Amino acid sequence: MNVGLPRDVSWQGRTVRTAVWKRPADGPRLARRLNLVGDGQGDLAGHGGEQRAVFVYQIEAYQYWQQQLGRNDFEYGQFGENLTVRGLADDEVCIGDRYQIGEALFEVTQPRVTCFRVGIRMDDPRIPALLVSHHRPGFYFRVLREGAVQAGDEIVRVARGPQAMTVAEIDALLYLPGHPAEQVRRALTIPALSPGWQASFRELAAQADNGKGTGNAGLAAASPPPAWPGFRSLTVTAIERESESVISLRLADPAGAPLPAAAPGQFVSVRLRPHPDQPPLLRSYSLSGAPDAGSYRVSVKREEHGTASHYVHDRVRAGDRLEVAAPRGTFILRPGTAPVLLISAGVGATPVLSMLHALADAGPGREVWWLHGARNRAEEPFAAEARSLLDRLPRAHRHVCYSQPGPGDVVGRDYQSAGRLSADVLARLALPRDAEAYICGPNGFMADATAALGKLGLGGGQIRTEIFGARPALTPGIAAAAAVPPHQPAGTPGSGPEVAFARSGLTVRWDQRYASLLELAEACDVPVRWSCRTGVCHNCESGLLSGEVGYSPDPVDDPADGDVLICCAQPTGDVALDL
Ligand SMILES: Cc1cc2nc3c(=O)[nH]c(=O)nc-3n(C[C@H](O)[C@H](O)[C@H](O)COP(=O)(O)OP(=O)(O)OC[C@H]3O[C@@H](n4cnc5c(N)ncnc54)[C@H](O)[C@@H]3O)c2cc1C
Ligand code: FES
Repeated sequence: MNVGLPRDVSWQGRTVRTAVWKRPADGPRLARRLNLVGDGQGDLAGHGGEQRAVFVYQIEAYQYWQQQLGRNDFEYGQFGENLTVRGLADDEVCIGDRYQIGEALFEVTQPRVTCFRVGIRMDDPRIPALLVSHHRPGFYFRVLREGAVQAGDEIVRVARGPQAMTVAEIDALLYLPGHPAEQVRRALTIPALSPGWQASFRELAAQADNGKGTGNAGLAAASPPPAWPGFRSLTVTAIERESESVISLRLADPAGAPLPAAAPGQFVSVRLRPHPDQPPLLRSYSLSGAPDAGSYRVSVKREEHGTASHYVHDRVRAGDRLEVAAPRGTFILRPGTAPVLLISAGVGATPVLSMLHALADAGPGREVWWLHGARNRAEEPFAAEARSLLDRLPRAHRHVCYSQPGPGDVVGRDYQSAGRLSADVLARLALPRDAEAYICGPNGFMADATAALGKLGLGGGQIRTEIFGARPALTPGIAAAAAVPPHQPAGTPGSGPEVAFARSGLTVRWDQRYASLLELAEACDVPVRWSCRTGVCHNCESGLLSGEVGYSPDPVDDPADGDVLICCAQPTGDVALDL
């Protein structure tokens, strides 16, 4: 029996908070609902909690890894486990099995969380991937009855999990290629399986049902494959003014062929070349028109001091050609019958307006709420368009807030309330609790609206947001450092292919000193998301807007078409990433 408390460990020049170092504990210890007494976890988002209270690993697996890795330096707790057990192999123990150990009663909830920290503990970064690909992950217990446990206690199985699906089977079902639909559905009937794993299997089941999308929907939100690789040249066929600061560009195929339909809510990335002798600018814009119109419409706000938006407003003209990547993104209106809340502020209306087009074209049926915040009538883009779409929907509601109504703006006609579209306003609206919400606007606005809907009873799965910039980083257990804007990496500039980070507005040259695109992004302080750093968890899955990559090591399961797992990828030519 091994316990350990979180501590700071230095790793690759950073500080990692981790409790992966466990030491044998003498005598009996109480197994409590959340922990063995004296044990803890460094990062409660990824580890610990009721579902992951006690981690179990087998002494037979130690022997296996000693042979596989040619090592003889293992000590108890080597794999971050609380209980080092004889027997209880991953291909015998089933999710939902119940075991009596000492005075306590335990139930098996899920396999190991794939995390880089076991690689640090083992001094071998490949370990998170090897544990999965060799079918030896280990598993977690929840504590059904608290009580004392000690080394030497007999382990007695008192109940078999329904479906008798083993830990190794469930782990492979999520992480390894294949995901047979029938097995996924069986897994979903095991009540003891932790909610996080159930959510992943629900996504896999939905992916199997609609037959669309590639990649592993259980690990990363799935989007339809991009309609063309890289960038293609489209013609600006018209430019229209939407408000004082927003104009729309219509984009069409130069030969007049209809453009592939997008999913409602998706965006395109555009490569702009204001100065022929300077690197191009890469910016993304949500499609604001009907997703299947055969042409695309993007609507661009003139940002104060904004380089690309000034160029678009001042220099781009009808008849110009622009280089455009295929629509992508996972902020997509879900089919179904649930009421829809389209919540936006400012130019954040663009993706939800595209959803409103799709809803109006689908005909009456769904209840739709158009909730928008603007400064005033002059600064409200798409007012007439949204109104006419809502008029086609018998179960539509509209609530527009003006923070600074203009002298001619009429309450009741142009807008419904003065002030911001705040949590208070949302709370007063009697919004349906079974709705799906799509939110887009400034980050603070989205955070407030998400919290307000949470208070009204909407769960996380009912709320989706679109960020018009870099997504927040996910760096498990890494000590927070002051946010630094993205920059060229320190030291001698690389001489390899160009790597463009679209959301961060940065282009740098690749260099062989980086093991992966993830390492290059980190050297530039580009916000990144990761957990295993070795191609298993898909947390680092990012859009590959253009170019090709190679993999070393190979991912355990492929990302979706048009995506890349940056933790194990290297560019083979110039690439553009949605980061
Ligand atoms: C998925 C996605 C969808 C998007 N959809 C849309 C959309 O539909 N419509 C839209 O308009 N935009 C959209 N954006 C945002 C868009 O891609 C650009 O980021 C935005 O237009 C700003 O680009 P820019 O080149 O004009 O500004 P940048 O030059 O990149 O500047 C970024 C910000 O910094 C500020 N800034 C720059 N220099 C200074 C300075 N010297 N002093 C003070 N502030 C400064 C600018 O005001 C600007 O707000 C989307 C982004 C994403 C990721
Ligand atoms: S960080 Fe886990 S797959 Fe890349």
